[in-house]
Amino acid sequence: MTTAQTTELDVQPSPLALLLLGREADPRSERGVECPGDLPSPSDPDLVERARAAKEKLGDKVFVLGHHYQRDEVIQFADVTGDSFKLARDAAARPEAEYIVFCGVHFMAESADILTSDDQKVVLPDLAAGCSMADMATAEQVAECWDVLTEAGIAEQVVPVSYMNSSADIKAFTGKHGGTICTSSNAKNALEWAFEQGEKVLFLPDQHLGRNTAVRDMGLSLEDCVLYNPHKPNGGLTAEQLRDAKMILWRGHCSVHGRFSLESVEDVRARIPGVNVLVHPECRHEVVAAADYVGSTEYIIKALEAAPAGSKWAIGTELNLVRRLANRFAPEGKEIVFLDKTVCFCSTMNRIDLPHLVWTLESLAAGKLVNRIEVDPETEKYAKLALERMLALP
Ligand code: 13P
Ligand code: SF4
Repeated sequence: MTTAQTTELDVQPSPLALLLLGREADPRSERGVECPGDLPSPSDPDLVERARAAKEKLGDKVFVLGHHYQRDEVIQFADVTGDSFKLARDAAARPEAEYIVFCGVHFMAESADILTSDDQKVVLPDLAAGCSMADMATAEQVAECWDVLTEAGIAEQVVPVSYMNSSADIKAFTGKHGGTICTSSNAKNALEWAFEQGEKVLFLPDQHLGRNTAVRDMGLSLEDCVLYNPHKPNGGLTAEQLRDAKMILWRGHCSVHGRFSLESVEDVRARIPGVNVLVHPECRHEVVAAADYVGSTEYIIKALEAAPAGSKWAIGTELNLVRRLANRFAPEGKEIVFLDKTVCFCSTMNRIDLPHLVWTLESLAAGKLVNRIEVDPETEKYAKLALERMLALP
């Protein structure tokens, strides 16, 4: 009999979870990479004009992608904004652009490099813009996990499904072992596909997206899920537990979404009668279970666009996006608040600021390629296989 793995077990908001702008950092993800050039001063009053002029000079040679969690000062220069899925698809949509400037985090830029042609160069304005969740699964740990599954005699029944928020190495592992990538907007389709290919899924690295999709969308129970802890021998699981499980969840999480608790939901319902609670599926299972709606950043935007005037919403996702939506929809009489009482940005997304964008665009306009993200050909080959399986999902 498999033991139910509840979310209380592991993810308590850590001190690192509260990443106040400029005051704290997650050292696992922000590797202290210094900008290799001269960054303009943040107080330069001409930054907006400089970014505009450099982008104009580059013309069709540059295509700027912006994830919804980016700062307003950056997102205003994006040619396309979107969630992880939309940006992966759109990255390949401008084959004439020599430079793809990715205003997002490292794993997104890697995916863009994999999906674009070899002569297109993907640039990340600050190389320290990583993702602490993606860092929670390393290639060595995942290879060791596969050995554990092989020893338990189940590797052949297991299909890996890896969240977009993972390194190119993990995507390559996934492609090599017959699996697919997913994002928060197609995780259900990915799991349906995976369960047609095999009997079990190894879901990397976000336990919450894996558990929430399995239980909410696929009708599996919490008892069908086990939690593989890469820091424990054999993942902290017995061979019997692995053989009984349908979903083997990697013990990774997002420190930003891990911030929201059941208490935040109960508290906002008490404070704002009639409020609709809408959260991202990277939130813990008990938060998702208590919410009214669950979806990716793109889903959240569409839900608010369709909401009637006078409706009230508490949103459980990154603050840059929630603040932008609150400002955008206030004139339509839609009241939008942040689900938690405490301010919470994604510190690594916030690394991309206007000075870094100006420095990047001006360097490119001067013919100097900076901060290129390039995945090696062997990794790219298998990672692309996994990404293309995702793009082919219904
Ligand atoms: P989506 O934009 O795909 O919803 O993902 C959120 C996220 O955490 C990106 O890092
Ligand atoms: Fe990673 Fe979470 Fe930031 Fe997304 S919000 S980039 S998952 S740390």
